[in-house]
Amino acid sequence: MNFKQELASILHDLLGQEMTLKDLELMIEKPKNQEHGDLAFPCFTLAKLKRKSPNLIAEELCKKIQSPIFEKVTVVGAYLNFFLNKKTASEKVVRDILAQKGKYGELTFGNGGAVTIDMSSPNIAKPFSMGHLRSTVIGNSLALIVEKCGYKPLKINHLGDWGTQFGKLITAYQLWGDADKVKANPIKELLSLYIKFHEEAESNPSLEDQGRSWFKKLEDGDAQALELWKWFRDESLKEFSRIYELMNVEFDSYAGEAFYNDKMDRVVQLLEEKHLLVESEQAQVVELNEEQLPPCLIKKSDGATLYATRDLAAALYRQEEYQFVQSLYVVGHEQSLHFKQLIAVLSKMGYDWSKLMHHIPFGMMLKDGKKMSTRKGKVVLLEEVLNESIAMARHNIEEKNPNLANKDKVAKQVGVGAVIFHDLKNNRMNDIEFSLEEMLRFEGETGPYVQYTYARACSILRKATGKTEYKAATYTNSWEKEWKVTSLLIEFASAVQRACTNFDPSQVAKYIIDLAQAFNKYYAEVKILEDSAEQQGRLALVFAVTEVLKEGLRLLGLEAPDEM
Ligand code: ARG
Repeated sequence: MNFKQELASILHDLLGQEMTLKDLELMIEKPKNQEHGDLAFPCFTLAKLKRKSPNLIAEELCKKIQSPIFEKVTVVGAYLNFFLNKKTASEKVVRDILAQKGKYGELTFGNGGAVTIDMSSPNIAKPFSMGHLRSTVIGNSLALIVEKCGYKPLKINHLGDWGTQFGKLITAYQLWGDADKVKANPIKELLSLYIKFHEEAESNPSLEDQGRSWFKKLEDGDAQALELWKWFRDESLKEFSRIYELMNVEFDSYAGEAFYNDKMDRVVQLLEEKHLLVESEQAQVVELNEEQLPPCLIKKSDGATLYATRDLAAALYRQEEYQFVQSLYVVGHEQSLHFKQLIAVLSKMGYDWSKLMHHIPFGMMLKDGKKMSTRKGKVVLLEEVLNESIAMARHNIEEKNPNLANKDKVAKQVGVGAVIFHDLKNNRMNDIEFSLEEMLRFEGETGPYVQYTYARACSILRKATGKTEYKAATYTNSWEKEWKVTSLLIEFASAVQRACTNFDPSQVAKYIIDLAQAFNKYYAEVKILEDSAEQQGRLALVFAVTEVLKEGLRLLGLEAPDEM
């Protein structure tokens, strides 16, 4: 039981059945300023229930509260402020962490419910863009965070592996392609074929017709078209897999757009049965006037289906297959309208579960203030970026710690971690400036800073050999000097919960930065390794900090090297 829950239960005992435990727990706040205590309870809601002034209620409650977990309870206006007993609270949290290790901070409110996370979802034969990187990193962290809260995450890579562009690509490959070149450098080669197609089509419009007819053949199951398509897809996936491997990301499903080819007739049929499909300029659409949205295009005049049709089929499939309690789509904010339309159409179809679907948008990745584009041949190859980051991390290690074992492994953990952390430390809606120098700094709010703090704490524990059994019984600390660090440790689960309910990994990133800073300050002020009566307790605290930093990093998708 955490302190919030303990306080809720104390209040519940005093108030009787007027409010549920859950409600009370939700009302308990954390004061912004620690001078106002560690927990606060506003009495406004009770005032309404009891028809008494909130200030009076606060006064009355204050007199009745007696618990060893608080050293002081004060009244400020309508608020009760609670000051935790530093010694009991610190010892409890350190003891909990020693016992639970990585499981510390785990929550159960997810009740095993399935959460589908549509994430990464790059397009076949096109470069893996910065947007796909952001989706991968945010989606992966959300999966870890919801899992920590008791949900069952399902990571789905909704590959862009279908659409008219494949007809164009097949046309271009037939005309100018070279199998060996594609094998050697699939995405680069396929992309340049695609670009060439568009250049040539400007002076030779019949190419567009050829492209359309190849796509038609593909949709009709033509063997030659399918074989080429499958080959492009396999080669592209090989390249994407290298990036996923670098980033340590795995998927539960690679059901992309093509997976829904045989599942779209049903969607169209359902829409017809529900009288939602209307003809507009020879195409079939669902009108969304009441929702004040433009109509959602379901079928083109030539009968071809669209991105939205496939997403409708995917939503139905996921609901039936996984019975999700939440369905997330981690996709850039440029697609906000698409997801509004998608959810609106499903709601019009009478599916209540459409309420469980959330678009999780995010901002752009900028370079020198401008969008990092993958179009017009100006390709930023993500794999190169990651490898460059690893090389720079390697260079830093060589300078700072030339004798380190496993330099390559650590360089990868730090280099990739730096890119991920930089992405996740800000609210996801913010645009972020891509700067490797900035990401890799050892000071400031960076991944390497947190990793370095972790490694430093590990090294303290290594130096204190023989004292690694941290027994609660030997604590002598008053825990005054430790309070900033221990009170943060107490907060871990709240940070995880906030990250989960707001779909916002930055809550965890900010939390571990705060913890790392507080720990470094503490380490500068207190000589932990000098013999003292408090040493046992302090080492236990250092151990607790390493566990929480490591777990916080893990929730963001970063590894924590013991030495760096
Ligand atoms: N492949 C799409 C793109 O790169 C993203 C797909 C997002 N997921 C979805 N279910 N629509 O823009």
